[in-house]
Order: sequence, then C-alpha cells, then structure tokens
Amino acid sequence: MRTFKGVHSGRRHVNGIRRHIGSVIITFLLIAFLLLLDSLIFKIIDYAIHQSISTTHDSTEIENTGAGRLDNVTSSVQMYERLLNLASISLAEKEITHESSKYWEESSPHLSRWKPCSGTKMSKGFRREKVKNNTGFIVVSANGGLNQQRVAVCNAVAVASLLNASLVIPKFLYSNVWNDPSQFGDLYQEDHFMNSLIDDVDIVKELPHKFQSLDMEAIGSLVTDADLSKEAKPEEYIRNILPILLRNRVVHFLGFANRLGFDPLSSELQRLRCKCNFHALKFVPKIQEVASLLIRRIRKNSTSRSALNEQLLGNFQPTLPSKENNKVHSKYLALHLRFEVDMVAYSMCEFGGGEHERRELQAYREAHFPLLIERVKKSKATSPSELREMGKCPLTPEEAALFLAGLGFSRDTYIYLAGSHIYRGKSHMHPLTSLYPNIVSKEDLLSQSELAPFMNFSSQLAALDFIACATADVFAITDSGSQLSSLVSGLRTYYGGGAAPTLTPNKKRLASILSRNKTIKWGNFEEKIRKMTEESQRVRIRAFGRSIYRQPRCKDCMCKLQ
Ligand SMILES: *[C@@H]1O[C@H](CO)[C@@H](O)[C@H](O)[C@H]1NC(C)=O
Ligand SMILES: *[C@@H]1O[C@H](CO)[C@@H](O)[C@H](O)[C@H]1NC(C)=O
Ligand SMILES: *[C@@H]1O[C@H](CO)[C@@H](O)[C@H](O)[C@H]1NC(C)=O
Ligand SMILES: *[C@@H]1O[C@H](CO)[C@@H](O)[C@H](O)[C@H]1NC(C)=O
Ligand SMILES: *[C@@H]1O[C@H](CO)[C@@H](O)[C@H](O)[C@H]1NC(C)=O
Ligand SMILES: *[C@@H]1O[C@H](CO)[C@@H](O)[C@H](O)[C@H]1NC(C)=O
Repeated sequence: MRTFKGVHSGRRHVNGIRRHIGSVIITFLLIAFLLLLDSLIFKIIDYAIHQSISTTHDSTEIENTGAGRLDNVTSSVQMYERLLNLASISLAEKEITHESSKYWEESSPHLSRWKPCSGTKMSKGFRREKVKNNTGFIVVSANGGLNQQRVAVCNAVAVASLLNASLVIPKFLYSNVWNDPSQFGDLYQEDHFMNSLIDDVDIVKELPHKFQSLDMEAIGSLVTDADLSKEAKPEEYIRNILPILLRNRVVHFLGFANRLGFDPLSSELQRLRCKCNFHALKFVPKIQEVASLLIRRIRKNSTSRSALNEQLLGNFQPTLPSKENNKVHSKYLALHLRFEVDMVAYSMCEFGGGEHERRELQAYREAHFPLLIERVKKSKATSPSELREMGKCPLTPEEAALFLAGLGFSRDTYIYLAGSHIYRGKSHMHPLTSLYPNIVSKEDLLSQSELAPFMNFSSQLAALDFIACATADVFAITDSGSQLSSLVSGLRTYYGGGAAPTLTPNKKRLASILSRNKTIKWGNFEEKIRKMTEESQRVRIRAFGRSIYRQPRCKDCMCKLQ
C-alpha cells in the first residue's frame, strides 16, 4: 500500500490502486480533506494530547532527579515542525488503510538458524585440574549501574577462570550517582549463579576468614582500573595479576568494568563469559514477580510464551493464555530514550530549546562536569551544529518519533518507554506523545504500592525496564553506546530465535537525513530511514573485538544450524 505516498509527492501512483475501489475513493477523499486541514488537525490532536500528558506523564519530569531548579516549561520544543506535520499526515493515512509496519518482524529468515549454545559444561577433568592448581581468591567490587555491573560480573568470571582462582561473589559499590545499596543477592539469584557455573569456576559466597582482615592496599593486592589497560589482553593478567595472586593468595579488583578485552581470547573463556551473561544471571523472584505483572499489564493480559520470558521471568511467567485472551495478542514496542539531563548536558549539543535551554545546560555542566568545562576551555570547541552533523548528539524524543514514523509504525502503536527521566519532560516529550499517544512507563502501569519496594533502589527499578525491553515485540534504541540497549539487544539475539528485532538508528546518517528537514519529501524520508535501519539490522557475526554480550552470534556463544 505504498501507493498513497504518491499523494503528496505528485499523484503519480494513482494507477496502482485497483482493488477495493470503493474504499480507495473514500480514503482518497479523506486524505485530501486531511491535507487541507492538516495543520488544524495537528493542532487539535496536539491539544488533546497535551491535556492527557499533563495528567499522566508527570513522572517523566526531570524536576525530581536532583537536576536543580528548572522553570515551568509547558510549551513544546520542536526542531522539525514540517517533518512532524508530514509524519502526522502519514500516520493518519495509515490509520485509515490499517497498514502495519513491516518492522515488527525481523528481516532475515537466516536468523532463526542461530541457537543459544553456551550453556554446556566444561569437561570435568579440566576443572579438576584448575581447582587443584588453585591460585587464590579474586574479590571484585563493581561500580556503575545495573548493566555495567553485569558486564563486570561476567568479566570477573572469565578472569577467575583464566587465573585458576576462586571467585568471591562480586560486591557492588555504592555510588551517589546510582544511589543504590543493592548487592548481588538483591538482584540476582546467588545459588543459581553458583550452580550454573559449578563446572567452570569455583565460586564462593565469602572470602575465607583468614583473608578478611587483610589490608589489601597495604599488601599490594588492591588493583584499580588505573592498574589495568582498558580491554586488557589475557597476557596482561598473567603478567601483572597472577604474581600478586600467587604471592598473597588474594586480589581485590576495585571498580572493575570493561577491563577484559573481547579479542583475542580463548574459545573456552569466550564461551564462559557468554554462559555467565546468558545463563547464570537470573533476577531474584522479587524482581521477576513485579516484572511479570508489568508485562501482563503492558500486554493487556494476553501472553506469549517465549524463551525470553522463560529466561527473564522464571516461575513468574504469565500463565498460558486462555482461548479468549489468545485472540488479542497485544504487541508492544519498547523504546529506550537516552535523553536524561546528564546525557544532554554532557553532549554539548543544542536541542531547539533556545537561549534558555543553552543557559540551563551550561549551568548544569558547571555544577556537575567541571572536568569537561576545563577541557572545553583548553581546546577549540566543536560547535553544536558540527557535533550534530557528526552524529554525536543524543536523539531527542522528537527525533525518535520521526524515526518510528519513518519506519511506518502506526499511531496506535503501544510503546513502553524505558528510563523515563526525560530532560524537560513535557516539552521535549510533546512531539513524541502527539504522534504516538499510547506511551506508557512502569510508573504508569504499576501502582505506588507495587513500586514502593523498589523505590530506593535504582538498579532494581532498572531491572524492570531491562525485562520489559527484552520481552518486547520490537525494541527501538536511540543510543547504541548505552549499556542497557546493548545488553538487552544481545539477549534478544540470543534467546529471540530470530524473531526479536532491535531497531537502531545510525546517528550520523540520521543527522544527515534530518538536515534536509525543510525540503525532503516524506516518501523520500521514509525510504532513507528504512535503508539506514535495514543496513544496521543486517545479520552480522560478531566482529573482532566486539562485545559478545551485545553480539552473541559467533561460534563460542551460539550455534548455527545448517
Ligand atoms: C510552576 O508551577 C507550579 C504549579 O503548577 C507553581 O506552584 C510554581 O510557582 C511554578 N513555578 C514557576 C517558576 O513558575
Ligand atoms: C591453570 O590450570 C591449568 C590446568 O591445570 C593449567 O594448564 C594452567 O597453566 C593454569 N594457569 C595458571 C595461570 O595457573
Ligand atoms: C599447575 O599449573 C602449572 C602452570 O602454572 C603447571 O605447570 C602444572 O602442571 C599445573 N599442575 C597441575 C596439577 O595441573
Ligand atoms: C486483566 O486481568 C485482571 C485480573 O485477572 C483484570 O482485573 C483486568 O481487568 C484484566 N485487564 C484487561 C485489560 O483485560
Ligand atoms: C526511601 O528513602 C527515603 C529517604 O532516603 C525514605 O524516607 C523512604 O521511606 C524510603 N522509601 C522506601 C520505600 O524504603
Ligand atoms: C533543518 O533544516 C534547516 C534548513 O535546511 C537546517 O539549517 C537545519 O540545520 C536543519 N535542522 C537540523 C536539526 O538538522
């Protein structure tokens, strides 16, 4: 039904309409009517949505994130008024023709041939050898939020195996940024973790007593991120860490995140990392239970059983649908916007909010990123428009809306929004909510009392978003550098059986498409967005040096059936 595209771009394709003449004529008249009244309709829709978000989306306001005082901003911030109008017309047409986006499905039939296959065990003899040769204990204190910690844990498992050491269940450091005292056992099932890896690595809950009182720093066993290269090679561990371990029988990695490179690494360790991430880390029942409730509400009680649900929700999978529920399979798209004040301020970009916004972001930088300010002072600053051209600016909710509209997602698409502290919530969200009114977040779907047990634990809250994104029919991300987006998309690749697409815009190409916002025809815009997305979706085997957590399609992690 791409026929209708021609209507604004020159009425060329009218001949293509043959079937359903009656409905086509009606449609045609309606479109003409819409074209005449488009701006009026846009304003009406706008107004209606404005009313509804002002009541339901208070939780997306940034005011309560410690960002300092922000003025009341009720107007909508827009950078692409013309494109938004075109998008709105296009979505209205699709509503009439009931056209559904083809991006609900993954594009390549080859994908379903890749199966999870890192759950297997290391040979018993090998492990026994390693244990006999035990070199000591590894203690890890991981920093960062939920997702960075997950990476740290699995890297630690691989390092323990590499050094033939026993791993003490990792500790999570408390930081003011994340404000979350949760420990491993508050997020993940400890026994499951230990049992899944029992044939691979020796894992203990506590450091043996005799080591507990040691001053790690004084004996030279404290290893910080400064002591290891980023993405270090295994040899670096053998050379620098093993001697400490052999001397003191204990090493403490403080703030251990991406300190183990992806290549080169033995197949054995690669597989182990993958097994840790995809098999050994299961959320605790407290999280699974509420996540299951959340997903049931997103899906309006219709459920679909899948390997992803099983992996993430364990015993709390929604019960198999009754016949009656089965009829309406409620699809949803999860969108991970990264438009929090930190991201926005740090980027040094501009987002259409004018002088006021510029001053506000500068003040935020001065308060929170003194090092950045220093650096900018010393070097010649790149201008905001150059940064945008280079694809270095976080996507605004408006850009995300245009991305989805360009892919043909209809106006009634049910969108789950992850991570909802949007900078200047209402005004930046407005273009998105006006195109896509069915947007919900966990705060909308769970009651205060259901959320209460998680309220002071940002990692546990993030786990709910993690699960809701992973089990979505489609996952759309706006920042491929985000740890959550990356881990969730890997999980969808691993367990999705080729039916769990992730949509990733290429920010640089998107910026180039959007730079033509004043002139580009809608049909051309759609075509460019589609091409960009399909290129990023093309089936890839993990490339050298790339994260196995994000791209598990490789021989050490997944198996390809012929
Ligand atoms: C912002 O709005 C609230 C209520 O909506 C009002 O109490 C407050 O005074 C306003 N602040 C500013 C700076 O206008
Ligand atoms: C670990 O144990 C294996 C098996 O005994 C041995 O081949 C390897 O050299 C050991 N590595 C270290 C770092 O001790
Ligand atoms: C322990 O590891 C060393 C190398 O680090 C190796 O030479 C030795 O054979 C191993 N011992 C056992 C019992 O595996
Ligand atoms: C879903 O089920 C619950 C209880 O089983 C019911 O209260 C609720 O109204 C249902 N929701 C929908 C949208 O059908
Ligand atoms: C969260 O912490 C605040 C203070 O930091 C406290 O007042 C509140 O009761 C806590 N809420 C829950 C649900 O524990
Ligand atoms: C929108 O188009 C105008 C005119 O071509 C251009 O100057 C502007 O940079 C574009 N906006 C963005 C954000 O790319």
